[in-house]
Amino acid sequence: MKVDVLLGLQWGDEGKGKIVDVLTPKYDVVARFQGGPNAGHTLEFEGQKYVLRSIPSGIFQGGKTNIIGNGVVLDPELFGKEVKELEASGHNLSYRLLISKKAHLILPTHRLLDAAYEAAKGTGKIGTTGKGIGPAYTDKIGRNGVRAGDLLHRFEEKYVTTVNRHKEILAQLHFEYDLTPLEEKWFAGIECLKRFQLIDSEHYLNKKLCQGKNILAEGAQGTMLDIDFGSYPFVTSSNTICAGACTGLGVSPGKIGDVYGIFKAYCTRVGSGPFPTELQDEMGEKLRQLGHEFGSVTGRPRRCGWIDLVALRYAIMINGVTKLIMMKSDVMDQFPIIKACVAYRVEGVKTTDFPYDISEDVRPVWKEIQGWQTDMTKMQSEDEFPAAFKAYLSFLEKELGVPVVIVSVGADREQTIIRHGF
Ligand code: GDP
Ligand code: IMO
Ligand code: MG
Repeated sequence: MKVDVLLGLQWGDEGKGKIVDVLTPKYDVVARFQGGPNAGHTLEFEGQKYVLRSIPSGIFQGGKTNIIGNGVVLDPELFGKEVKELEASGHNLSYRLLISKKAHLILPTHRLLDAAYEAAKGTGKIGTTGKGIGPAYTDKIGRNGVRAGDLLHRFEEKYVTTVNRHKEILAQLHFEYDLTPLEEKWFAGIECLKRFQLIDSEHYLNKKLCQGKNILAEGAQGTMLDIDFGSYPFVTSSNTICAGACTGLGVSPGKIGDVYGIFKAYCTRVGSGPFPTELQDEMGEKLRQLGHEFGSVTGRPRRCGWIDLVALRYAIMINGVTKLIMMKSDVMDQFPIIKACVAYRVEGVKTTDFPYDISEDVRPVWKEIQGWQTDMTKMQSEDEFPAAFKAYLSFLEKELGVPVVIVSVGADREQTIIRHGF
């Protein structure tokens, strides 16, 4: 059997959580492969709304195993909070949630360092989620990290050594803080973490594959936030792309099956950094209001713009996307005209190749498309699609070279149209 991968093709918040939940019944195991509590994956069903940060989005479909993989950075305090909230709403997680021993821990001082580095950057700040993601991955790569598996062996010693090193850096940055209350909450989170089984997840997953089980790998963030291929330096600190599923779970490239690339019918971005199709006018505000584009973790207003097919083609290429999933098409339901960026003019020269640096003089070349001006939110089947919407889908499939297999027409689990042949 193979591992199918679901990942974002834009700047995150495409709707990954919703679709992982919808697809979970087809799988035996769901595994998060990178990122940490910078993610906010929203799921809505039976009148309830849940936002998951570290726990995989397969957790609500009974009987499925969910794994936090080695590529994830885990904050015990936030993890504990998430567990508590889910348990309070009647969801029992024990035995269904397993954690890789090799997942790195986000320490309270990583969060302080995140804030200190951002403050030091001034106007050039990245606009991080403030969750300590960059500093935790820096320690991982610098071979100074503390891993979940360390809980089993000389944990206190490793914690203290790392925190003392962080304190020195914070002092150099003249950053003021009170660590005691942060540590109290963090160690309470450690107690919660100890209730869960820590496993060698690479062995577990490969054995499951040998037993013929299906695995879905859940990505966080999006391709344009990838540390190598995103709009560097305004990116996150992990490989959000398909290859990240191999390193973040310990499965070989040959074991990857379908790659589901998920995108919104328009485009959003949170935090700083270039965004060629951004609309800083009434239309951008309209998209933000209609799409409720406010961060699920930070509440920050998301920047909005038209769909960018140059960036999407690049993301499809980097990830080897085999199936596309289009989200939030309902947000465009009333628009008479929809725009799509089909090429860029870079310093006046037209190109369809995604350039090295999109913060330079990059101007979108637009194609205008007829809107469908029909409420699609209650549709159940693609047979109900208006002609103009069908034409829009055909246009996207032709431009992107990959079939759109699912169309999402609302936030609820039920508002999902699986197309014929999927
Ligand atoms: P993720 O991080 O990729 O899981 O996405 P987020 O949860 O951060 O953001 C997606 C937002 O859009 C959430 O508030 C979802 O409830 C909502 N959403 C998902 N799909 C749809 C859709 O098809 N239509 C509308 N209107 N909202 C959607
Ligand atoms: P999901 O999984 C949208 C953005 C931040 C910032 C940059 C770096 O919900 O799609 P970080 O805290 O990772 O160091 O911040 O990345 N960012 C996200 N934007 N969705 C996310 O996750 C994000 N995770 C990080 O806003 O610009
Ligand atoms: Mg999100």
